[in-house]
Amino acid sequence: MMRSLCLFSLLLHATMAQKPAIPNKPVVAPQVPAATPVQKWPTLSGNEPLVIARGGFTGLFPEGSPDAIGLSKDISTFLCNLQLTKDAGAYCLTGTTLDNSTTIALFDPKENTYNINGKDVRGHFSLDYTSAQIDQNVSVNQAIFSRPEFFDGVSPVLNVDALLEDKAPPKFWLNVQSEAFYSQHGLKVVDIVLEILKVYPIDFVSSSEISFLKSINGKSNKATKVIFQLLHATDVESTTIKPYGEIVKDLLNIKSFASGIMVPKEYIWPVKPDKYLGLPTTLVADAHKLGLEVYASGFANDFFSSYNYSYDPTAEYLQFIDKEVSVDGVVTDFPVTASNAIACFAHNNTLPQKGPTWIISNNGASGVYPGSTDLAYNQAIADGVDIIDCSVQMTKDGVAFCTNSIDLIGTTTAMTKFMSRSSLVPELQAKSGIFSFDLTWSEIQTLKPQIVNTQSDLPRNPAEKNSGKFVTLPEFLELAKAKAVAGILVNISNAAYLASKKGLDIVGVVSTALSNATFDKQSTQQVLIQSDDSSVLSKFKDIPSYKRVLIIATTASVLLGITNVVKELKDANLTVFIRTLRNEYMSLAFDYWSDPTFEIATYVQTTRVDGLVTDHPATASRYLRSPCSDPKHVPTILPAQPGELLSTIPAELLPPSAAPLPPLEVADVVDPPLPAVVNTTKDVHAAAPAAPVAPSSTASANSSNVALSLVAILVFAMLSARH
Ligand SMILES: *[C@@H]1O[C@H](CO)[C@@H](O)[C@H](O)[C@H]1NC(C)=O
Ligand SMILES: *[C@@H]1O[C@H](CO)[C@@H](O)[C@H](O)[C@H]1NC(C)=O
Ligand SMILES: *[C@@H]1O[C@H](CO)[C@@H](O)[C@H](O)[C@H]1NC(C)=O
Ligand SMILES: *[C@@H]1O[C@H](CO)[C@@H](O)[C@H](O)[C@H]1NC(C)=O
Ligand SMILES: *[C@@H]1O[C@H](CO)[C@@H](O)[C@H](O)[C@H]1NC(C)=O
Ligand SMILES: *[C@@H]1O[C@H](CO)[C@@H](O)[C@H](O)[C@H]1NC(C)=O
Ligand SMILES: *[C@@H]1O[C@H](CO)[C@@H](O)[C@H](O)[C@H]1NC(C)=O
Ligand SMILES: *[C@@H]1O[C@H](CO)[C@@H](O)[C@H](O)[C@H]1NC(C)=O
Ligand SMILES: *[C@@H]1O[C@H](CO)[C@@H](O)[C@H](O)[C@H]1NC(C)=O
Repeated sequence: MMRSLCLFSLLLHATMAQKPAIPNKPVVAPQVPAATPVQKWPTLSGNEPLVIARGGFTGLFPEGSPDAIGLSKDISTFLCNLQLTKDAGAYCLTGTTLDNSTTIALFDPKENTYNINGKDVRGHFSLDYTSAQIDQNVSVNQAIFSRPEFFDGVSPVLNVDALLEDKAPPKFWLNVQSEAFYSQHGLKVVDIVLEILKVYPIDFVSSSEISFLKSINGKSNKATKVIFQLLHATDVESTTIKPYGEIVKDLLNIKSFASGIMVPKEYIWPVKPDKYLGLPTTLVADAHKLGLEVYASGFANDFFSSYNYSYDPTAEYLQFIDKEVSVDGVVTDFPVTASNAIACFAHNNTLPQKGPTWIISNNGASGVYPGSTDLAYNQAIADGVDIIDCSVQMTKDGVAFCTNSIDLIGTTTAMTKFMSRSSLVPELQAKSGIFSFDLTWSEIQTLKPQIVNTQSDLPRNPAEKNSGKFVTLPEFLELAKAKAVAGILVNISNAAYLASKKGLDIVGVVSTALSNATFDKQSTQQVLIQSDDSSVLSKFKDIPSYKRVLIIATTASVLLGITNVVKELKDANLTVFIRTLRNEYMSLAFDYWSDPTFEIATYVQTTRVDGLVTDHPATASRYLRSPCSDPKHVPTILPAQPGELLSTIPAELLPPSAAPLPPLEVADVVDPPLPAVVNTTKDVHAAAPAAPVAPSSTASANSSNVALSLVAILVFAMLSARH
């Protein structure tokens, strides 16, 4: 479950060194007056929704640690889940025990057991210790084990007084946990809390226990809002002995002791057992009618919530804040993503014209539907793609169609029907496959397309995993014309093998289809011909409107110096795209903060590539159409800095030759000419009169250019940093 660490080391370095400029620095706070005119929000107050950070930036740092607070303070309200020591010391730690979130077990190996709400809980409890013990001998850990542990055991447990005595404390929300439990063990929780509320300016106080809220109601500072925290619907509230799911139905009663509610987000947008969203409840509107505020909790970029969001955390926030009614705040472990959703992406706040970087689909919107199907292409177009792509494959009977691989096993249901046709073709791949050139088009049409999950534990849209129709190349071209997309990208692979071994002239078929669809006689729609084989590209050089594209297959290594590579490739008049961007948080380096928008911002702003190839065009489109994609706009979304990263990579992970990149010669990317197309029906004459028949150009893999091999080295450096 570990993700790459290389990029992360930048953040480590930058924050440890207390540099002001950290990568992905939060946007200018939505809570700070913005330059743009204030827009009315459908919240109770009409102000924009608040971002409430549970323990600070806990998505990355241990709860309440200085970095967790530092990175969230300007953009959010700090939510402290209160735990008390036996001498009434107040600390911020989520949960009833200290075990997952601190180093307590090192200090005291002995565990204790208490009955809390009728359940025996075993572990270390704050009320068994003194403040001095916690302050001096215990430090915080990252409590969620899939998150980075680099900061564990470094910072003290956050003491409420220490935080609020600071000259510039964050806006503060005190959530009183397990009041009944502490009270049973002799702590006067009401008095302790009222004292805190008296001494410090506190914006919110909340609890999940009604008796506690009633006992502080009216006694606290008027400026402090009293909020009732509802736990999961089946959990039982200790005062009324009723489940929270019942209690929430009587908002009028809640109104008598609280001015708002904090609810798990599923109270508003329920998630069905199949993990798709159900119909929304009317909770927010009902509460607003009674003058009650509603805060939704449980947001985190790295918790799966529903397939409807396609792993895009911004999409989820917008669902709660950008509809007819908006929640009054969101409680999150990743305050920056929430803050950007509010400041950059809500309210259809789009640029008149999208940024210049092209959005190119990867087999259509293959993050949403099975790749290269009619559904995937139409979704990509609806999502704002500039260029739709077709990776052309040939059937046995010479039909060109779109799918990501010449081996149909991954992208179709071929395994279930045509296992007997599988074969081993070492020139194409090491394992055996069911190859498109061994099936006829009518056979392929009896199959179903299949969605490809890039992370096996994060499946994509399972309800549609075999939906959609296969698309022939002419159909693809027709669609592109009918929908007037800005361009098409046609990807040709294995041309030499198909010509010399299967008698299939993929280059000729593509040329003919393009001409037949009049793409050779127009210049309104871009035509990009892409291949791993420069001799394929050279076949298209006579049509001036066609652009020939070399794609660098790399992802996370961008910051290791690709700026140079991109510049040199562009100097050689090649168009440079970056592929393949995806939303799934497991495919993002830690310092993109599990937020695909930060990755996109980094590629667009630091490397200035010509295009982004993505499985999720909607996410790229939303960013490139947002005013925040302009680094000069306030607010903006800032990328990570490549130079800084390079300087922080541990020496043993650096590419072996740190020598400067030799100048790229066009000759470096030239492959030998394609072989002739054989006539498999024997009676022979070669269709493509290729000049001196050279060995298959795929055999010349190491004539590839220096830049590419540099990228390969960089990729290797990234991989070796993974666990
Ligand atoms: C501590 O972490 C373990 C493993 O993730 C989890 O099962 C347990 O519920 C956690 N305990 C608390 C008190 O959060
Ligand atoms: C903290 O630990 C040290 C070393 O074990 C010990 O001497 C000290 O008394 C402890 N402090 C408290 C308050 O328990
Ligand atoms: C969620 O996705 C399902 C399946 O695609 C769809 O039927 C439903 O309308 C979606 N719900 C929302 C709120 O978008
Ligand atoms: C944004 O635009 C969409 C489509 O045009 C519309 O359905 C939606 O209501 C708009 N949202 C807001 C907050 O204006
Ligand atoms: C081009 O198509 C081949 C399969 O034909 C595929 O392996 C490759 O990933 C595609 N390249 C791009 C950039 O889509
Ligand atoms: C040529 O285009 C027409 C429509 O413009 C289409 O009906 C026909 O199938 C195409 N032929 C080929 C060989 O692609
Ligand atoms: C790139 O294109 C420019 C303008 O078309 C031309 O002047 C230059 O020579 C070209 N460079 C290479 C390396 O082909
Ligand atoms: C291949 O041979 C067959 C049988 O002689 C002939 O009909 C056909 O035209 C040839 N095809 C090509 C592309 O030369
Ligand atoms: C690959 O590179 C090596 C060393 O540079 C060279 O000896 C060999 O001939 C090259 N192979 C091909 C197929 O170009």
